[in-house]
Amino acid sequence: MKRTLAAALAAFACMAPSHAADVEVLHYWTSGGEARSAAELKKALAARGIGWKDFAVAGGAGDNAATALKARVMSGSPPSAAQVKGPAIQEWGDEGVLASIDAVARAEKWDALLPPAVAAIMKYKGRYVAAPVNVHRVNWLWVNPAVLKKAGATAPATFDEFFAAADKIKAAGLVAVAHGGQPWQDATLFESVALGVGGPEFYRKALVQLDQATLTSPTMVKTFDTLARIKTYIDRGAAGRDWNLATAMVINGKAGMQFMGDWAKGEFTAAGRKPGVDFLCVPAPGTANAFTYNIDSMLMFETGKSDQPKAQQALASAIMSPAFQESFNLNKGSIPVRAGVPRTRFDACAIKSMDDMTASGKRGAFVPSMAHNMAVAPAAQGAMMDVIARFMNSKMASKDAAAALAKAAKTR
Ligand code: BGC
Repeated sequence: MKRTLAAALAAFACMAPSHAADVEVLHYWTSGGEARSAAELKKALAARGIGWKDFAVAGGAGDNAATALKARVMSGSPPSAAQVKGPAIQEWGDEGVLASIDAVARAEKWDALLPPAVAAIMKYKGRYVAAPVNVHRVNWLWVNPAVLKKAGATAPATFDEFFAAADKIKAAGLVAVAHGGQPWQDATLFESVALGVGGPEFYRKALVQLDQATLTSPTMVKTFDTLARIKTYIDRGAAGRDWNLATAMVINGKAGMQFMGDWAKGEFTAAGRKPGVDFLCVPAPGTANAFTYNIDSMLMFETGKSDQPKAQQALASAIMSPAFQESFNLNKGSIPVRAGVPRTRFDACAIKSMDDMTASGKRGAFVPSMAHNMAVAPAAQGAMMDVIARFMNSKMASKDAAAALAKAAKTR
């Protein structure tokens, strides 16, 4: 009996991966759908014998997380990895505080698995320092079809159709546009409106290249005019509301539509709702041919602890594995960032996103999200978001807003 037990224990010890190290991961995935996704990462690490030390900082789009990260790095105790995106990766690289994961990236041939533009974001001076998790599409409108039906409205494709639907939903006594009055949510709405009003070329010139003439052009004024009109369909309770609570209003049929990236889909699916039945994903008005991308990534920090480099490589390898890219993105609402992940388990919204990503890339309409830290360096982005939030919360004239936005874009 004793011998059998000892043998069983020995066999179990062989099967269970030995506990090599912990990684401390700073992230802001705290809503229902996000937490389910973060759990997938924890699971993928556990399978590799790596423990998870949770450093979750609530707050949509990661403003609070960015502040917490700065404090930790400045005090000389950075986490192993942090959810950092876009141009901020280069700024952290300039600080000399990053750890390289180039060895694992080379061994696993990431250059061949990732779109070149994505690989470039993940590298500092030619070496991988971050691992990409997904591709989120920002220019979506989430719609409750039961609300449309009640109001006698149809899902909009253009701004004219959008305002017609919004009027009907309002007349039916419901909230037409679910929104949370937080600067990043205001900027998310703003950039989808800019894309719909001006198209991808305008968007790129204004919000990526920060071209002064485009930022103050009549098209930008029209963008703010459109935004002002959308404001009239947002309920009074929106101030400070978290994005997932706005999504819940659409889920529960209190509101008809929400402009939000496809992390919102994670909330619908976590609530057991089915795409095409209980909710619709349609491109934000006028943006069907374009794609604003937002790529989450885990940036690695030099911790000075000897067990970390190996653990960080294991984290990076887990993130890029096809199995993780599938399970994480099924929960997150996003799509895999690397090649070679089967499509079969993804829903219609994700398949549309995959197809639209390819098609928009071919027509030069695959553009980085300004609101989600992909397009503009943090200082200018923050100043621009302040202007947009001020516009949303006052009676500022569109022309003045465009001028202020252009000025903010010069912030260094
Ligand atoms: C991130 C998403 C996150 C969302 C809300 C975005 O900027 O890319 O991963 O779900 O913010 O917090």
